[in-house]
Amino acid sequence: MGLLRVGVMASGRGSNCQAIIDAAESGRLPARVVVVVSDKAGAQVLERARRHGIPAVFVDYTAYPSKEEYEKVVLAVLRRHEVELVCLAGYMRLVGRVLLEAFPNRIMNIHPALLPAFRGLHAQRQAWEYGVRFSGCTVHFVDEGMDTGPIILQAVVPVFQHDTPETLAARILEQEHRIYVEAVKLFAEGRLQVDGRRVWIKDHP
Ligand code: GRF
Repeated sequence: MGLLRVGVMASGRGSNCQAIIDAAESGRLPARVVVVVSDKAGAQVLERARRHGIPAVFVDYTAYPSKEEYEKVVLAVLRRHEVELVCLAGYMRLVGRVLLEAFPNRIMNIHPALLPAFRGLHAQRQAWEYGVRFSGCTVHFVDEGMDTGPIILQAVVPVFQHDTPETLAARILEQEHRIYVEAVKLFAEGRLQVDGRRVWIKDHP
């Protein structure tokens, strides 16, 4: 079986991207990160990619008249690298029609809460402020909504009395790195099938 060609889109720190790169390089994941695209010029994720010899491309959102024009440029980059799966990893924009149509059920995202709770920005802080006893993270396929697509995997973490939004976020992040790699692996193995809102995982306990 060939290695799945993964393109990562990210806007910032890139620790989830790093987890995927590391898993791929170590042979734990039958995939290869072939390109990293960022909408932020100075994003740390670009530096991380370069350190691994992975093409790191900045596409300036503000240089185009519309999301569509911007996404056409991103799409050309992804196509040039023959990307089969797009992983959003801290990508701070809603994905539009151009990319969704080009990659149907082939764009994943990681969200730092148990969806459908606490969608949108600062999900860890939202959960902490709400006072939930458990939160976690979700890997899902991306649709036109914000954090609304079919759920692939989730992990639960406890919220402790003395947590701050930061300590909670750190506990969630550890699980993000684990389940994002696991979800990409399931995809690479051809074990994910989307049926409406539900994702069927073949041979899963
Ligand atoms: C993560 O918490 C992810 O769940 C959210 O954005 C953050 C990105 O972190 N979508 P990193 O850039 O992967 O370190």
